[in-house]
Parts: sequence; C-alpha cells; structure tokens
Amino acid sequence: MSKFTWRDDYRIGYDLVDGQHEHLFKLANKVFDAKDKHALKHCVQELFRYVRKHFRDEERLMSQLNYPDYDHHVQLHNEIELRLSKIDAEFKTDQFSITALQILMNDWLLDHILGADKLIGSWARKQQ
Ligand SMILES: [Fe+2]
Repeated sequence: MSKFTWRDDYRIGYDLVDGQHEHLFKLANKVFDAKDKHALKHCVQELFRYVRKHFRDEERLMSQLNYPDYDHHVQLHNEIELRLSKIDAEFKTDQFSITALQILMNDWLLDHILGADKLIGSWARKQQ
C-alpha cells in the first residue's frame, strides 16, 4: 500500500490547519496499515470523524479571514464528505473497497491540501 508522507512544504501557514493536515496523513497511513477487519473499521471511523472535524475548523478559519472563495471551498468539502459517506455505507454492507478509499485520500490529501487549501494561505499572506 502506498504511504502518505507529510512534507513541510505542504504547510499553508496556519498551525491549527497544518497540524490537522499532518495528523490526517498519520490517520490515513493507519488505515492502510490495518492488519485485520476489526482494526480497519476502527481506523476508518477515526479518520472519517477527524476529517469532518477538520473541515469545520478549516471553514471557521476561512470565515474569520473573510476568505473570498469560502462558498466554493465549502462545496469542495461537502463533495469529499459525500464520497466519505458513500465509502462509509459500503463499509457497513461489507462492500468496502480499500482502492476507493485510497483514490479518495490521494485526491483529497494531496490534491485538495496542495491546491485549494494552499490558496487560503497564499490569499491570507497577500492581505498582510
Ligand atoms: Fe480544505
């Protein structure tokens, strides 16, 4: 299984968000390292719970910053949450595909953090 490796240049410049992103990489790796179904279930739930908490915290930050692309960014979060819910439902009916989760984590952990989330940091720096 591929590993998610955190790098300092993934930071957007806000400690709360950066710390949570780094923790999400750890939780994602735990999912892919899970040894049995019981462990997998626990790790997936832990990851999903944390993703949702993280989105709310990130949305709070964007709103405090008066981030102009707030609505679009929240929409991206909602889309990811929909995909998480779908995977969660499949998990409950034993149709879980680790590949679907891996694709989502690649799309989100890498593309979203490196794309949309980084824009929050660069926009905020320009305002200073
Ligand atoms: Fe985000």
